Amino acid sequence: MSDNKPSATRRQFLGGAALAAGAAATGKLVHAQAADPLITELQPWQQFLGPGVDAAPYGMPSPFESHVVRRNVPWLTADSVSSVNFTPLHEMEGIITPNGLAFERHHGGVAEIDPADHRLMINGLVDTQMVFTMQDLMRFPRENRTYFLECAANSGMEWRGAQLNGCQFTHGMIHNVVYTGVPLRLLLEEAGVQTNGTWLLAEGADASAMTRSIPMEKCLDDCLVATHMNGERLRPEQGYPLRLVVPGWEGNMWVKWLRRLEVGDQPWHHREETSKYTDLLANGDARRFTWVMDAKSVITNPSPQAPILHGPGPTVLTGVAWSGRGTIPRVDVTLDGGMNWHQARMSGPSFDKSMHRFYFEFDWDGSELLLQSRAHDSTGYVQPTKDQLREIRGENSIYHNNGIQTWLVRENGESENVEVG
Ligand code: MTE
Ligand code: CO
Repeated sequence: MSDNKPSATRRQFLGGAALAAGAAATGKLVHAQAADPLITELQPWQQFLGPGVDAAPYGMPSPFESHVVRRNVPWLTADSVSSVNFTPLHEMEGIITPNGLAFERHHGGVAEIDPADHRLMINGLVDTQMVFTMQDLMRFPRENRTYFLECAANSGMEWRGAQLNGCQFTHGMIHNVVYTGVPLRLLLEEAGVQTNGTWLLAEGADASAMTRSIPMEKCLDDCLVATHMNGERLRPEQGYPLRLVVPGWEGNMWVKWLRRLEVGDQPWHHREETSKYTDLLANGDARRFTWVMDAKSVITNPSPQAPILHGPGPTVLTGVAWSGRGTIPRVDVTLDGGMNWHQARMSGPSFDKSMHRFYFEFDWDGSELLLQSRAHDSTGYVQPTKDQLREIRGENSIYHNNGIQTWLVRENGESENVEVG
């Protein structure tokens, strides 16, 4: 463009078109001014050529999105090697977690492994012990499936009351990814599991050598040995070059940097599983081996990190829901702390053991709101309140908190994490 001043006709045309189209489509939503300089004046980015195609061989998000990152809570863990960070749920739409935003949970940092040097071994109660290279694995039939991974400790800080201010921190130990992988069943069949082989020990190649026992029934059902996430190779943080996918079950069983599978006739005794991955009940008993993640949901917008900035009027509420037992056919939302419930609108693909997206559009009158969402899964299970959970589990639990989350939205549009009695 040679002239950096738009002609009178161009200015009239643009201004008029913006108003007419906006008004027709959305009525009272439009705040456009007839002479908004951002539409009537030529902008710098219209006047110069931009960078060419090879400026970023691996593309990155716009610099204006640089705030959309995983974050951690420094006081939660002593160091970043055995630590966790959180997915920015309040900045996301749809159901897929972009690879760079998938939360990380490591017990011994990220192992850096050249796939040429990676091996997967199957030993124990099998007819033939086997060692696979990555190339060997790529010769098995593979499948594509979308699953959520939720750490059993997600929302664990919230058992005793509202703690962390933002859904990224209260609910962000979850990601939802399209995996490409070989069904674990095919590899086990290749090795020939013996009839007394009822358990599988999965071991990671990282310094923590994370080991987990998984019942053989689950292994032969829907587990994958995954090489890809969202169409590209696994990220190092997510277990490159190989990770176990254990659909619907707690994240700690999804062993990353997977190097060995041992078939046995009983579960192994894991330091972590007996001491940490146990839910203490109100009566002092412990609930062990609670692997399936129950239905859960959270409103991501508005939320403490995502205030309402536009004032009263048409407002879009959105959030995510998931269940380790199936799909989410329905989510209810309330604006008044549970006095009135409304059925939300589900939008996007509905996959088994995957995240689902819901919306609820409403006309905000500018008064205080107490927002909650309540997921129903395909088994008929309904997400409980935190008090209902506490009645069964007491207040000293850490894991498996799937209670209903409440956000208080103030008249100025800001919100905070609260509990309603
Ligand atoms: N696998 C190995 N080898 N080492 C680990 O530290 N952490 C586990 C699991 N698999 C872990 C592992 C835990 S507790 C969780 S919640 C998930 O990986 C986290 O997966 P992510 O880092 O992809 O979010
Ligand atoms: Co975990």
